[in-house]
Amino acid sequence: MNADDAQIQKQRAARAALDYLHEGMVLGVGTGSTVNALIDLLANEGWARRLRGAVSSSEASTARLRALGTLILDLNDLTELSLYIDGADEATRERVLIKGGGAALTREKIIAAVAKRFVCIVDAGKMVATLGAFPLPIEVIPMARAYVTRELTRYGGRPVWRQGCVTDNGNHILDVHGLSITSPLQA
Ligand code: A5P
Repeated sequence: MNADDAQIQKQRAARAALDYLHEGMVLGVGTGSTVNALIDLLANEGWARRLRGAVSSSEASTARLRALGTLILDLNDLTELSLYIDGADEATRERVLIKGGGAALTREKIIAAVAKRFVCIVDAGKMVATLGAFPLPIEVIPMARAYVTRELTRYGGRPVWRQGCVTDNGNHILDVHGLSITSPLQA
């Protein structure tokens, strides 16, 4: 698939999520190129100002939303959140995901945990039978990086430090290669 086709796929996935929006709601907004397509749609379809506000999983998405005039809220100030929309790096038909290619995974998981509904916008290229071809991103506190690397190696993976990447939380990312995650819901 060329870059233009890939972008069209992302736009289609993003557009499908518009059906879940309603006037005056607070929207949880994730991170990544598919979400950027959604944010563009929010602008083009007049949603940016019809929302009461948004909580966002990254500084990057926050900046894009703010540029549209969307009020950014603190998750701590909300007692509930009806909807969170985000992309994923891999997805199965059982709706299990790999996330974190954009290094926003911790905030994404927190917002998803608070939200009543999580709408994941992925195109067909993200669908897999077994998770793991996309290296599994793990956010680590910097001082724990070597220790966590050793521990992850015991699970058969090959953690690679994403050098130069500092998350919005000031942490590092390990991308774990070589996994075949056949039972993702088992600890
Ligand atoms: C961000 O940390 C990720 O979880 C994204 O949701 C994921 O990487 C999808 O990004 P794209 O939409 O750019 O593929």
